[in-house]
Amino acid sequence: MNLWRTLSGRRRAVALAGASALVAGGLVTIPVTAAQAATQCSIDYTTSDWPGGFTGTVTIRNLGDAVSSWNLGFTFPSSSQKVQQGWSAKWSQSGQNVTATNESYNGSLASGASTTIGFNGAWSGSNPKPTSFTLNGTVCNGGTPTTPPPSTPPPTTPPPTTPPPTTPPPTTPPPTTPPPTTPPPGTKVDNPYLGVKGYVNPEWKAKADAEPGGSRVSSNPTAVWLDRIAAIKGTTDSSSNGSMGVRDHLDKALAQGAGYIQFVIYNLPGRDCAALASNGELGPDDLPRYKAEYIDPIAAIQADPKYASLRIVNIIEIDSLPNLVTNTSGQPGGTAMCDTVKANGAYVNGVGYALNKLGAIGNVYNYIDAAHHGWIGWDSNFGPTANQLYAAATASGSTVKNVTGFIVNTANYSALKEPYVKITDSVNGQTVRQSKWIDWNQYVDELSFAQAFRNKLVQTGFESNIGMLIDTSRNGWGGTARPTGPGATTSVDTYVNGGRIDRRIHAGNWCNQAGAGLGERPKAAPEPGIDAYVWVKPPGESDGSSTLIPNDEGKGFDRMCDPTYTGNARNGNSLSGALPNAPISGAWFSAQFQELMKNAYPAL
Ligand code: BGC
Repeated sequence: MNLWRTLSGRRRAVALAGASALVAGGLVTIPVTAAQAATQCSIDYTTSDWPGGFTGTVTIRNLGDAVSSWNLGFTFPSSSQKVQQGWSAKWSQSGQNVTATNESYNGSLASGASTTIGFNGAWSGSNPKPTSFTLNGTVCNGGTPTTPPPSTPPPTTPPPTTPPPTTPPPTTPPPTTPPPTTPPPGTKVDNPYLGVKGYVNPEWKAKADAEPGGSRVSSNPTAVWLDRIAAIKGTTDSSSNGSMGVRDHLDKALAQGAGYIQFVIYNLPGRDCAALASNGELGPDDLPRYKAEYIDPIAAIQADPKYASLRIVNIIEIDSLPNLVTNTSGQPGGTAMCDTVKANGAYVNGVGYALNKLGAIGNVYNYIDAAHHGWIGWDSNFGPTANQLYAAATASGSTVKNVTGFIVNTANYSALKEPYVKITDSVNGQTVRQSKWIDWNQYVDELSFAQAFRNKLVQTGFESNIGMLIDTSRNGWGGTARPTGPGATTSVDTYVNGGRIDRRIHAGNWCNQAGAGLGERPKAAPEPGIDAYVWVKPPGESDGSSTLIPNDEGKGFDRMCDPTYTGNARNGNSLSGALPNAPISGAWFSAQFQELMKNAYPAL
């Protein structure tokens, strides 16, 4: 579990401008046959532009007969316009002609159905929209027949009308504290955290209690990580995550009189594709094993009527889907493993399968990981990630109804609220977005990001009552180094660096951060749109080893966990900021636990 950000803002625009166009390949011309005469479509093409670059979002609506595969064609009006990296379709460009062909999971489009795909591109001069689109070779005209056969009387049936858009308008987040309700068994509540007590994992509690001063925090609910198949039944090895299995935890939760319990579903094929510290046991082609040996047995236990009174929260696959947007080839952070799991659909289909299987259980609540502001807070990543999450939530037979919400900041240290730096501030006429720390991001903290991303997700097609979780286990940033007021107004950099409470060397640092503290204690409905502050990453469990430590869990050595590492493009070639002498990810790291307590905010 390691959060990587991608090059952003200024540096990203430069990198993109230097990149070459995608694989060549001409527009596919399909001869019009009688069967294809029933193809008809409407296209919604929007862009979000910045100097030299843009994100294109294309919604294809099938107004003809159902299709099992499709290709979309259009022509850029300007020769400067280039598709550089696409998602939810296979993109290619030849000259000004662009083709997008369906992925395995979104080829089927029923009559009236739509799908949204997108890309990041480059432009210069101007960025005009294409004026004509084809679907499977037929020009999309919104359902109006182009050449009605001669001498046919006007049709008696009204022409097909455009179905209402599927995307509901953004809604005001639900009130923070609706009265707790007790719905009939099997009915899901809107916010599973509200009005009930959280399960305290006794194995985590024992480790925290064994630390001097640890009893001050050990009664907080933390999540149970199912980070390998063996963790379902329970293991004999307690070096990483403890030895209790899923049933043991559920039984214990009943015994505690808990109202909710949190599990992390974390075992995707080719896990942690852009990093090394949390690579797992399943290879990129192991989707069948993920389904049969991992998700199915978990679902079988969670569905046991014995546990029907518990609200079972599943946090779905930390750091997976955003990697498909930011860390695939053509991008500065691209890795071969992310390319592989994007191309073979392992992440999208794995997440879709998990959501569908687990979401079918009446008392189960799924929250999908949505990275954090220092990863997807740039325009170039924000919308594309929402679309990628939507593609996964509607893959493998799943629908958005299986999604209660999203979680941010689980693998990261981003501050909840920056009291002394607002993204709208400027210094001597310069926006703080231009500072080195913010680097053109649109957000400076997790709360503002989570609320905005929630709106984006609703616009993208998720239900209007989704809620966000913010992991506050390690983002307190208290202690003696915490600023008490804004920085000096000499420049945007002095202002931001002097006033920010997030004291990391660079916002791209993610491993065992020195100076970090425990953040807000777990709490339901703290702010509009936020279902809860949670401790999903159990404080005191390492993010990764600071040197190579052989192990049989598939965990690698990532230099971002080595305090002597001087960094790479993704963290601005800065020191990693990691604590020394760390064990492998998931293992207990006493020095980090002490650091977190020392710098807790609110203080203990
Ligand atoms: C590790 C998991 C562990 C989790 C919680 C991840 O980084 O890869 O094995 O369960 O952190 O500590």
